[in-house]
Amino acid sequence: MGFADLLIPLLSLVTSSVCAGVGGASQGGAVLCPLQCVCETRPWYTPQSVYHQARTVDCNELHLQRIPANVSSDTQVLLLQSNNISSITTELQRLTNLTELDLSQNHFTQVSSMGLSTLGRLVTLYLEENRIEELEDFSLRNLSSLEELYINHNHISSIGPKAFAGLTNLLRLHLNSNRLVAIDSRWFESLPSLEILMIGENPILGLEEKNFLPLSRLHSLVLAGMGLASVPSAAFLGLDYLESLSFYDNRLRSVPRDALSMLPNLKFLDLNKNPIGRVQQGDFQNLQHLEELSLNNMEELLMVERAAFQNLPEIAKLELCNNPRLSYIDPQAFSDLSSLRTLLLHSNQLSLLSGDLLSSLPSLEEVSLHSNPLRCDCLSSWGPHLGNQSHLKMLESSITLCSTPHHLIGRELQEVVAFAWGGPGGGGANSCLPHISPHAFPPAMNVSAGQPITLECWADADPAPQFYWVTPTGDK
Ligand SMILES: *[C@@H]1O[C@H](CO)[C@@H](O)[C@H](O)[C@H]1NC(C)=O
Ligand SMILES: *[C@@H]1O[C@H](CO)[C@@H](O)[C@H](O)[C@H]1NC(C)=O
Ligand SMILES: *[C@@H]1O[C@H](CO)[C@@H](O)[C@H](O)[C@H]1NC(C)=O
Ligand SMILES: *[C@@H]1O[C@H](CO)[C@@H](O)[C@H](O)[C@H]1NC(C)=O
Ligand SMILES: *[C@@H]1O[C@H](CO)[C@@H](O)[C@H](O)[C@H]1NC(C)=O
Ligand SMILES: *[C@@H]1O[C@H](CO)[C@@H](O)[C@H](O)[C@H]1NC(C)=O
Repeated sequence: MGFADLLIPLLSLVTSSVCAGVGGASQGGAVLCPLQCVCETRPWYTPQSVYHQARTVDCNELHLQRIPANVSSDTQVLLLQSNNISSITTELQRLTNLTELDLSQNHFTQVSSMGLSTLGRLVTLYLEENRIEELEDFSLRNLSSLEELYINHNHISSIGPKAFAGLTNLLRLHLNSNRLVAIDSRWFESLPSLEILMIGENPILGLEEKNFLPLSRLHSLVLAGMGLASVPSAAFLGLDYLESLSFYDNRLRSVPRDALSMLPNLKFLDLNKNPIGRVQQGDFQNLQHLEELSLNNMEELLMVERAAFQNLPEIAKLELCNNPRLSYIDPQAFSDLSSLRTLLLHSNQLSLLSGDLLSSLPSLEEVSLHSNPLRCDCLSSWGPHLGNQSHLKMLESSITLCSTPHHLIGRELQEVVAFAWGGPGGGGANSCLPHISPHAFPPAMNVSAGQPITLECWADADPAPQFYWVTPTGDK
């Protein structure tokens, strides 16, 4: 089509040469560019976000079966995403200046045969969404500059204990969505610099004691979607600098408190989507630096006990949302949360929050309560916090609506409170009776005659309710 090497200056720092075949490639010693690829200088950022200009060869989405010949040997970034490449012979050997190589979404099954051993300057390697089944020992050993390895969404079921040998500068490792059934702490002995590890969505049978011991510089660990039902108490031993931990979508029935207590620098904890039934006293103790905690999307969560969040002096944000059976938070549950600024409680089964609960939060700035079956008759609980004098910001107040009593259904909680609290007759004799959530009890319990049985009961009301139990025979 008559295209010669076109050198197009763009904004003075990007130059582009679009080549169309063999003929043009020889002109004036110009840069060779493989057929259909785009060769140009592009901005490139290191994992530390330092800006560089990089000679880039972009061959993404070209249905290529092989790495093109004639990729210029001064190429720094080679993009081959979404092709149909399953093997490499010697094409990469000359490309000793590569800093980024993207081979994601191809058909590779093996790493050891990829000929990566000359890529001593490679910083970022994308191998995700291939069909790699195994990582053999030493298969990456010459990649001593590598800082980021994405090998997620493959079929890896086996990783040799020395598979990562030589990766002394690796900062980020994505191993998620593979077929690993166990985590071997020996892998991590080769990774003294690792800061981020994503290893979720593997059918791991369980974590083991000291599973991550060598990762003394790890900041962030994602253990999402692994079917974890429990966590051994020493699983996280050695993770002294871990700041962020996610257990999203596992099978934990209680907060793994012993394991968490080994993480002195934890700041962000995500326990969303686990079948935790209760948040218990002492579940989070010792997390002196925790800043954000999420307990959302828990189908089984019924209640939050008193002092559940004890000893969390730095927590600023607490999320307890989308828990369809959460009907009760003990009035003393939040005592001690002196730094809490944001409290998200929307989309639960809460009808009332004890006034004590909000009073115990001196730094609270904003709260969400919408999509709960709210009672608007308990003004002495709501009034001090939502009345006209309050500085508390109600998030989504226009959809924070009353469910009871009948004559207030559909009204805005804050408007009802503002109107009635402190107004004529307001702030005074407003009592409200306890409602006991239908979710609070199991539908049936079997007990043999003469055996002890414990039934728990909780409800908010004003004044605070008293509880007693009447047996089927009428005894109180
Ligand atoms: C690649 O370069 C070789 C010589 O170095 C040449 O024979 C070949 O035709 C080139 N191929 C392409 C696709 O430019
Ligand atoms: C690789 O980079 C170095 C320094 O940036 C440069 O001197 C050398 O010429 C480059 N090699 C190739 C093959 O372009
Ligand atoms: C990918 O390559 C294989 C052979 O390696 C071939 O059978 C298949 O048709 C190719 N698929 C596409 C989409 O090109
Ligand atoms: C790769 O590393 C091994 C062992 O460290 C070394 O013997 C070999 O020469 C290296 N290969 C290249 C191509 O640098
Ligand atoms: C509080 O504000 C509402 C709406 O602005 C107003 O109707 C009500 O009279 C106010 N109550 C008091 C006690 O000032
Ligand atoms: C109680 O016992 C009955 C009869 O043995 C059984 O059908 C039922 O499932 C049991 N219920 C519970 C909650 O264990």
